[in-house]
Amino acid sequence: MNSPATLARDIDGKAIAATVLGEVAEQVRELTAQGIHPALAVVLVGDNPASQVYVRNKILRAGEAGIVSIERRLPSTCSQQELLEVIAMLNADPGVHGILVQLPVPAHIDEAAVIHAIDPAKDVDGFHRENVGGLVQGQDVLTPCTPSGCMRLLEETCGDLSGKHAVVIGRSNIVGKPMATLLLQAHCSVSIVHSRSVDAPALCRLADIVVVAVGKPKLIDASWLKPGAVVIDVGINRIDTPHGPKLVGDVDYNSARLVASAITPVPGGVGPMTIAYLLKNTVLAASKAPRIA
Ligand code: GUN
Repeated sequence: MNSPATLARDIDGKAIAATVLGEVAEQVRELTAQGIHPALAVVLVGDNPASQVYVRNKILRAGEAGIVSIERRLPSTCSQQELLEVIAMLNADPGVHGILVQLPVPAHIDEAAVIHAIDPAKDVDGFHRENVGGLVQGQDVLTPCTPSGCMRLLEETCGDLSGKHAVVIGRSNIVGKPMATLLLQAHCSVSIVHSRSVDAPALCRLADIVVVAVGKPKLIDASWLKPGAVVIDVGINRIDTPHGPKLVGDVDYNSARLVASAITPVPGGVGPMTIAYLLKNTVLAASKAPRIA
């Protein structure tokens, strides 16, 4: 346990994301000098309020980094076929380097069919099975943005991760599974803890590194943590308080910081990194794209 005077230090996702966005802007300048203008297509189906905010932020940040953005909005009533046709047009457009379909899509649309309709070379979310398989095999593929951002936070905080025991809490395709794979590639011993795990807190207490992505407000408190653990909180949960609505993570920040050595705040931790790595993936896809004559 930290002494009462030593609280965990905050991992400043905003500052580290700004560094990443600077790297992206530099890569955009280099590509532009070669006549390549990195372009990201963002497809939003329906009017989910959270998705609208995410999409607006992605487009805003892309513009700031010098990336062209192409927005395609479809009504919630659009058919799967209509959506697949939009994706096919973006796949065929050599001026589009990255394609992102904001999830979730409406229930009548098959999410997997949509993901697998995207050209894997333009799949800046890294969700296509070709990229997922490539990641597991250690190939140089487009990798999901949130886990990539978390890895950067960990590298900036801990340096070499080799030999550390990492516990990932949550097993989603978007975060948990790719996160565990990236940690394994960084030579961590990795455990994945989930809703069926027996004594999840005891498993978590073995961890030098804890990455939490479960969508349950303040699930993880100090009692789950080994003293000195580094905690990455992917959760963004809106809760009501007597003072009005508030964003909190999956980690009880005020409790966890009594025991952890470093922790991401919510907001201002992982959130900014996701967009930064989306744009990094877009310039990577642009740099590998066939050159237009
Ligand atoms: N919805 C929630 N997270 C994501 C993400 O990382 N990518 C997409 N496309 N949709 C999401």
